[in-house]
Amino acid sequence: MLEVRDLSLAFDDLLLADRLCFQLEAGKTHVIIGPNGTGKSSLLKALFGDLRPQSGEVLFDGECLDYRHVAQWRQRFSYMPQDIRLDIGLTVLEVVLLGRLGALSLKLKDPLIEAALEALEQIGLLHLAYRDVRTLSGGQCQMILFAQALMRSPRVLMLDEPVSALDLHFQQVLLDHLDQQTHRQHWVSVMILHDLNLAAQYADNLLVLKGGRLIAEGAPAAILNPELVREVYGVSAEVAYDQQGIPFVRTPRRGRSGHVAPAVQARSVLTG
Ligand SMILES: Nc1ncnc2c1ncn2[C@@H]1O[C@H](COP(=O)(O)OP(=O)(O)OP(=O)(O)O)[C@@H](O)[C@H]1O
Ligand SMILES: [Mg+2]
Repeated sequence: MLEVRDLSLAFDDLLLADRLCFQLEAGKTHVIIGPNGTGKSSLLKALFGDLRPQSGEVLFDGECLDYRHVAQWRQRFSYMPQDIRLDIGLTVLEVVLLGRLGALSLKLKDPLIEAALEALEQIGLLHLAYRDVRTLSGGQCQMILFAQALMRSPRVLMLDEPVSALDLHFQQVLLDHLDQQTHRQHWVSVMILHDLNLAAQYADNLLVLKGGRLIAEGAPAAILNPELVREVYGVSAEVAYDQQGIPFVRTPRRGRSGHVAPAVQARSVLTG
């Protein structure tokens, strides 16, 4: 279990976390949502030991993050950052292998290469293995960074907006794989998403951040409602539920004065 106790984070007088407390259980996917610039990425960096908090503690299975031994702390983490540019002259296979940097030597061992190829095969991108990463599309880069994160066999997997560049098919590939492996390998998985519908579908536990505070936490079906969406984003949304009770959120188009929405136009053509 990953635990945050009374964590405060700030850049000068910009307060990003105000004595946050939460626990992230293993074997579950925890999804963080919140407005742009609210401090979600900074919070992940603090969990990873990359950003020192003003106060408070981060613990993994009861062991406190000690900044004198931060490399040791990070060994159990796999962290996929928000920035997906890969401006480096390496092949896809080499980038995936970097996920196991600590195990690399001048002569690469076959099992390591096989594991990297298998990670690519699992996400349907084996055909890209020998491509220069600088020639990939944004979505392909994002999937390759996911394969790299999987290579580390982490105890904690942290993904910062992992599907922001992905089409519907690869969103499903990545999120289903994450869901299955989190359960099977008993990872603590933490992911930042902006798409509330994906968050509702894949979160075992949803954490809602705003103004440095955790304003709601729990199962999506229990906490996602129009009042929460208005409080967090200042947006009027409709929240409905599918047959499994999973919420889905829709923000109606606000329209322009004198403008007839396309759906209304289509209906009037049909009905004359
Ligand atoms: N190194 C830094 N120095 C100063 N301010 C920073 C630094 N990094 C981030 N910030 C500021 O901290 C705030 C939170 O940034 P952060 O990247 O954590 O937000 P976020 O919630 O991940 O936003 P987004 O949804 O847009 O990715 C922003 O106002 C940002 O400008
Ligand atoms: Mg961010």
